[in-house]
Amino acid sequence: MLVLGIETTCDETAAAVVERQADGQAKILSNVVRSQTDEHARFGGVVPEIAARAHVDLLDGIVASAMKEAGVGYGQLSAVAAAAGPGLIGGVIVGLTTAKAIAMVHDTPLIAVNHLEAHALTPRLTCALAFPYCLFLASGGHTQIVAVVGVGEYVRLGTTVDDAMGEAFDKVAKMLSLPYPGGPEVERAAAGGDPTRFAFPRPMLGRADANFSLSGLKTAVRNEASRLEPLEPQDISDLCASFQAAVLDSTADRLTVGLKLFEERFGTPRALVAAGGVAANHAIRSALQDVAAKAQTTLIIPPPALCTDNGAMIAWAGAERMALGLIDTMEAPPRARWLLDANAKAPAGHANSRAGY
Ligand code: KG4
Ligand code: ZN
Repeated sequence: MLVLGIETTCDETAAAVVERQADGQAKILSNVVRSQTDEHARFGGVVPEIAARAHVDLLDGIVASAMKEAGVGYGQLSAVAAAAGPGLIGGVIVGLTTAKAIAMVHDTPLIAVNHLEAHALTPRLTCALAFPYCLFLASGGHTQIVAVVGVGEYVRLGTTVDDAMGEAFDKVAKMLSLPYPGGPEVERAAAGGDPTRFAFPRPMLGRADANFSLSGLKTAVRNEASRLEPLEPQDISDLCASFQAAVLDSTADRLTVGLKLFEERFGTPRALVAAGGVAANHAIRSALQDVAAKAQTTLIIPPPALCTDNGAMIAWAGAERMALGLIDTMEAPPRARWLLDANAKAPAGHANSRAGY
C-alpha cells in the first residue's frame, strides 16, 4: 500500500510517501519538510495568515518533490492522506484541498487524518509497537497524555488547562529576548544556569488528575524578570534553568499520575511514547526516562524528524486507517478544532490559548 501524506496544520509544509507492507511493516520512501521558521521569526511566533500563504506557495512543489524522491507515479498511490485538523484553519484548508484535488484527478481514495492521531501512531511507523501504549504529546500547540488503545481509539488522560508546553517555552524565550523558536534557546541558556536560584511554582503537583497548567509558571518567570531588569546574561540563564526545572518536576508528576490512570483502565502500557517538538529537550527526555523506569515500562521517542510535524506521520496514519477500510468522502471538512478523544471535555478552568486542549 502506497500513501501520499500532506501536512500543513501549522508552520511546516510537508509531504511524504510511505509504503505499508501486508505484515504492517513500514517504509518511508520520501519525507520532504519545509519549515517556515524564517518567515515567522521576526514576529516571535507563527502568524496564521503568513503560514497559509506560504503553504499555498510551497505545497505543490513539495508534493512533487516527495513523489519524485519516492519514484512513485500518482497512478500507483493507494490513497492520499491530508491532515484535516486540528490546526490553523487557513493552512488546513490548503493541505486538505490539495489532497482532494489529487484524489479526484487520479480517482484515489482520500483519507482525512487527525493531526494528533498521526503523532499518536508514529511509533508504529518506526518500531512496530503493539497497542495499548501511552502517548505524551508536547508541542507548540498541544500538551496531552493519551491512551492509544487502537487505530481510532484514543482516550485522553490529561491535557493542559491553559498554555501548551512548547508555547510556554516560546513565551519565556520571548520575554527574555531570546530568538524564536524559543524551546531550544531556553534549553541552551538553561545549561549554564542555576536551576535553584528561583523557586518557581510546580503547577498541578500532587493533583489526582493528570492535567497540566503552564501559564502561572510563565507569569512567575515574567514577574521575576521584570523585578531584575536590566537582565544580565547570567540572570537569563538562571531564569531559564529555574523555569525548565519547574517544567521537569511538573511533567514528571503529571506523567506519573497519567501512567497510573492508564494502568487502572488498560493495564500496563507497552511503552511510554513521547512526541512533539518539546520531546527534543534533553532534560525532559531524561525526566521521561526516569518516569518510564519507575512505571516499569519502556520509553520510546521517535527520531526528531518524525517527532515534529512531517508528512510521513500523516501518510502512515492514512495507511493505518486505509488498512481498516476507513476512507473519507470529498465532503470531509477542514477543522480548526478536532478532539482526538470525542468523549473528552475541556478541563475545568480551561483558558483561551493555542493549546486546543
Ligand atoms: O511539534 P513541533 O515542531 O510543532 C508544533 O508545535 O506543532 O513543536 C514546536 C515546539 C515549539 O514550541 C518549540 O519551542 C518547542 O516545540 N521545542 C522545544 C525544544 N525544541 C522545540 N521546547 C523545549 N526544548 C527544546 N529543546
Ligand atoms: Zn504536531
